[in-house]
Amino acid sequence: VPPVMQMYGNKIGITRLPSLPPSEVPSKSKVVWEKFSPQTKFERQLYHYGTFPEGFHWGVSSSAYQVEGGWNADGKGPSVWDTFTQKPGNIPNNDNGDVACDSYNKIDEDLHMLRALKVKTYRLSLSWSRIFPNGYKSSHNQKGVDYYNRLIDGLIANNITPMVTLYHWDLPQALQHINGWDNPEMINIFNEYCDFCYATFGDRVKFWITFNEPQTIAWSGYGLGQIPPNVKQPGDAPYRVAHNLLKAHAQVYHTYDEKYRASQGGLVSISLNAEWAEPLDINVPREMVAADRALQFQLGWFAHPIFKNGDYPDAMKWQVGNKSELQGLPNSRLPSFTDEDKAFIQGTADVLYGSENTAVNEQKAVAWGLRRLLNWLKEEYGDPEIYITENGVATGTAVTVDDTDRIFFLKTYVDEALKAHNLDGVRVKGYIASSLMDSFEWLKGYTVGYGLHYVNFKHSSRPRTPKRSAHLYFDIMRNNGFPLPTEEEMLYGHFPEGFIWSTATAAYQVQSILTNTLYFDSPAYIWDKFAHTALKISQDENGDIACDSYNKITEDINSLKTLRVNHYRFSISWPRIMPDGTTRKINEAGLNYYHRLVDALLAANIKPQVTLYHWDLPQALQDVGGWENDTIVERFRDYSDVVFNSLGDKVKFWITINEPYNVAMIGHGTAPYIVAHNLIKAHAEAWHVYNDKYRAKHGGIVGITINSDWAEPRNPYKQEDVDAAVRVVQFQIGWFAHPVFNGDYSDLMKNIIRERSLAAEFTPAEVARIKGTHDYFGFNHYTTVLAYNMDYKNLEGAGTVADRTWLDSGSFWLKVTPVGFRNILNFIKEEYGDPPIYITENGVSERESMNLNDVHRIHYYDNYINQALKAYLLDGVDMRGYAAWSLMDNLEWTMGYDERFGLFYVNRSDPSLPRIPKKSVWHYATIINCNGFISPGEIPHECQIHEPGIDIPGTYLLIYM
Ligand SMILES: *[C@@H]1O[C@H](CO)[C@@H](O)[C@H](O)[C@H]1NC(C)=O
Ligand SMILES: *[C@@H]1O[C@H](CO)[C@@H](O)[C@H](O)[C@H]1NC(C)=O
Ligand SMILES: *[C@@H]1O[C@H](CO)[C@@H](O)[C@H](O)[C@H]1NC(C)=O
Repeated sequence: VPPVMQMYGNKIGITRLPSLPPSEVPSKSKVVWEKFSPQTKFERQLYHYGTFPEGFHWGVSSSAYQVEGGWNADGKGPSVWDTFTQKPGNIPNNDNGDVACDSYNKIDEDLHMLRALKVKTYRLSLSWSRIFPNGYKSSHNQKGVDYYNRLIDGLIANNITPMVTLYHWDLPQALQHINGWDNPEMINIFNEYCDFCYATFGDRVKFWITFNEPQTIAWSGYGLGQIPPNVKQPGDAPYRVAHNLLKAHAQVYHTYDEKYRASQGGLVSISLNAEWAEPLDINVPREMVAADRALQFQLGWFAHPIFKNGDYPDAMKWQVGNKSELQGLPNSRLPSFTDEDKAFIQGTADVLYGSENTAVNEQKAVAWGLRRLLNWLKEEYGDPEIYITENGVATGTAVTVDDTDRIFFLKTYVDEALKAHNLDGVRVKGYIASSLMDSFEWLKGYTVGYGLHYVNFKHSSRPRTPKRSAHLYFDIMRNNGFPLPTEEEMLYGHFPEGFIWSTATAAYQVQSILTNTLYFDSPAYIWDKFAHTALKISQDENGDIACDSYNKITEDINSLKTLRVNHYRFSISWPRIMPDGTTRKINEAGLNYYHRLVDALLAANIKPQVTLYHWDLPQALQDVGGWENDTIVERFRDYSDVVFNSLGDKVKFWITINEPYNVAMIGHGTAPYIVAHNLIKAHAEAWHVYNDKYRAKHGGIVGITINSDWAEPRNPYKQEDVDAAVRVVQFQIGWFAHPVFNGDYSDLMKNIIRERSLAAEFTPAEVARIKGTHDYFGFNHYTTVLAYNMDYKNLEGAGTVADRTWLDSGSFWLKVTPVGFRNILNFIKEEYGDPPIYITENGVSERESMNLNDVHRIHYYDNYINQALKAYLLDGVDMRGYAAWSLMDNLEWTMGYDERFGLFYVNRSDPSLPRIPKKSVWHYATIINCNGFISPGEIPHECQIHEPGIDIPGTYLLIYM
């Protein structure tokens, strides 16, 4: 007994679907739009981990004309596609399906691929003119029948369920001579053919699809005239053709029902295609009606008669009817069904087969459209069982086996189907990926491929090679979806006693300069000049006022208390202390501000973590070359000395320079290697000043804060990509960490620097002076990239991309990738001698209109901090502290105030710039107060912090369990 018989045993003798009332205008799409359009981007994108039930039908597809070849072999008659493609000029490169993948002669090769994939279902189509060369039963060709028997037997022998399409566009040419589907006689001719197929193959085939995408047959074949038979009569031919297709479908359904169902027990349906339509604004009735009509014209045209009441949807009848009336026609161009027809057509499908393919030039695939479409089908057609019979994406011929785009496509689309099943209760029963292998892609010939296997069409034996997507799909099928990966599971546990919990800001981003330009006319900072002159930041978006932290010490301390942090990371504005960057003039008022701030922090039992340089170089120093002028090393040393001297008895945690990589790469594109060189030396000098003059007295620690992404190879099986990923990380983190922790630039960096002939090498004395200038490893981290090899002169020889399943943020470069955090923490441990690590920045942004319910940030902190916990508890990484970026929304550099990283929202329309806690505040406060993560079993727990007035124990921790 083939497996399907057992699985669908209860379906034998199936009762017809009940008749449903006609669709309203607009239809149930309202319900779907109303349910999904309020979704935030976060809700829409959040990856869903879960699996389909046992027995889910995973498969791959093909169709006869696209793969078989053997166009005239063993007595096969020509089809309309043979005729069309054999005419020069119709298909790029005059390609055709004469040989295609040569599947007619390669059953074993095809079975081998299917077996290796371990698919449960193979969707294939029968070539009508191979079985009946002229379309009529009288022309029966036994050799053609034998081919399908061998193929089907091979499938059954390998435990693969055949899903057979009776008509996948390749009409016998002889039938086009009687006008093809525009002729109602086709109904009986098709019925004879199907009857024969049921009788011949139905002992083994239990899934029948009558027509593949009838909408395309009718519209592209007889309306637009793009595909054979290339009839261009958009006004009426498609309606007549569809009318015949519907009747033919109903006829062959009844034939199966009457003659075969009892003995064979299979399912019959039709495969419909659609693209999801969405109104621009669901509140505009006209737009809603139009979007709904688009769905009804594509899908409802066929689905409404079959799954509802035997008739076309009203939206369609009215539209065509009114237009016909306007044209002065006596009847609507849309033919009407008699009551007898309606009764005959209604309910002629046992399940719903739907397909959605992403067109070649529409790589901007919107995966979430699939989920909505599935929801619409559920709402519209009485909750049918749905099989996704085709879903795939095309890639160009340049892509052979390394098909990253298809990997992203499968991961997102299958996940949307899984969401529809698991979250929305849509009865999705199967998913068929298109397609098994690259094949003749209709009007595109061989210029694109949808295959999970690459086929070399230049080679006479048409060798098939699995693409990376085949490996991925194998895993998806084996896992029955996407079970939560172990590395993403939550770990419950605590950070060490005395762990530093902090949040961070930078001077220019939050303070205010207006109060302090005592010695110089503005601009006093390089960032002022930039903000005031560059058009990148709109006029009112500069740091002149920022969050006015200069005048709001009390407000900021209150925010910090709410968060329960024990430390606060802020930066000193160099030009606030030394307006021209030198010791020529010390601005006591500026120093005073920092004393007031530090005193207030200490009074609140919050310890300062102070950054000396967070990018706001005094403009006067920039005027003499900034970081490209090596005299800056002394300037920075002198500045550090002044600050250590003034604040050192109160501040015990010092950060010399924030993110030197970004200072060198983003701020100084012309001479990054010189800039980096001076930054490293400046850091070392500041460290030595502290070490020599203050350490004994003050007992604090000094380090540099380095930022780096984690990088994974885009293709983990490709050495070039693996090497590129190593280069990305070594380039970002190693550039600075290697001299400071290991001594000198790494060999990799030295080579990169030498190749650019911007020689900047350390002398042995410098190497010795720089090495060891650290009391800890300060680290800023946000995201992970996928790296691939790229031979481009001025970069680290690597390009990067993001996996499309990764959650977005408000920043184009920041994707939510928590696991990379743990990976890079382990990298630091291994590479730099297991240093104590303080995370000095980590956080996520948003860009949408203000929403205090920042669930995406809660998600981010939960998952990232949890990875840090794993690094500590499971990997033995010496984790000492964590600072969330950022305390409040602020001036996000070149992005102005649009990109917001804050735990607190700052209302910029209110002159008092109030700080308002977002939901993430209570969440982060809970992590801090619990010093880690309490397990669901411990909830409610006294360490949980609740938003005042809303006391629902456990809510926050339960959200992402
Ligand atoms: C024209 O459209 C209206 C609804 O807008 C419908 O009631 C009417 O029946 C339509 N007329 C025809 C001839 O279909
Ligand atoms: C470097 O800075 C010094 C002042 O510190 C200045 O005298 C000198 O001209 C600068 N060099 C260049 C090349 O700008
Ligand atoms: C921001 O401030 C403006 C002006 O006072 C006020 O109308 C608005 O409601 C405030 N928005 C929020 C979210 O507090």
